[in-house]
Amino acid sequence: MIPRRIALPLFAVLAACAGNPAFAAGKPEIDPAAITRPPGYRPYAGDARELAVLGDKLWNDTRLSTNGMSCNTCHANHGAFQASFAKPYPHRVAMARDKAGVKRVHLDEMIQACMLMPMAAQPLPWASKELAALTAHTRALQKSFRPAASAPANPCAGK
Ligand code: HEC
Repeated sequence: MIPRRIALPLFAVLAACAGNPAFAAGKPEIDPAAITRPPGYRPYAGDARELAVLGDKLWNDTRLSTNGMSCNTCHANHGAFQASFAKPYPHRVAMARDKAGVKRVHLDEMIQACMLMPMAAQPLPWASKELAALTAHTRALQKSFRPAASAPANPCAGK
């Protein structure tokens, strides 16, 4: 038996890849503007310690999604992150490129992409404390990420 915490995200990713003709045809299936920093963007700037505490809470909060998932459902122990996660931002992430046609993403843009796609929710307000907190949390995770130790390859990238 595949443990549920692995099976569930894997199934969601496979379903998202396989069942979608737009994805198969390589056309953007989500609006790139939804995951692109707006003009004049000024991220929420607050107390780093407070953002870290909130970010840790939100990371595990299934209420952020509409499908019962939290960020941690897929990304526990660096799960689902690909080698690109080790690189400084902005960089290319396959999901953003294939589904939105966005070539390079900043970290907060990728969080919005995961809000929209795997979490099946709306992007967070750009200037929100919540986005800043998740960005701080994810940036901290990035520091301890080593590509060789990552989870199984992204099924979307398969031939
Ligand atoms: C259903 C599973 C799933 C959930 C839930 C999910 N993600 Fe992801 N996420 C992925 C996958 C798969 C990738 C790899 C995409 C790629 O490399 O093409 C990814 C990539 C990322 C990346 C980019 C890594 C890089 O290569 O730069 C970040 C950052 C990220 N997720 C953050 C989040 C955050 C924050 C949440 C919660 C709001 C979240 N994810 C929820 C599946 C998920």
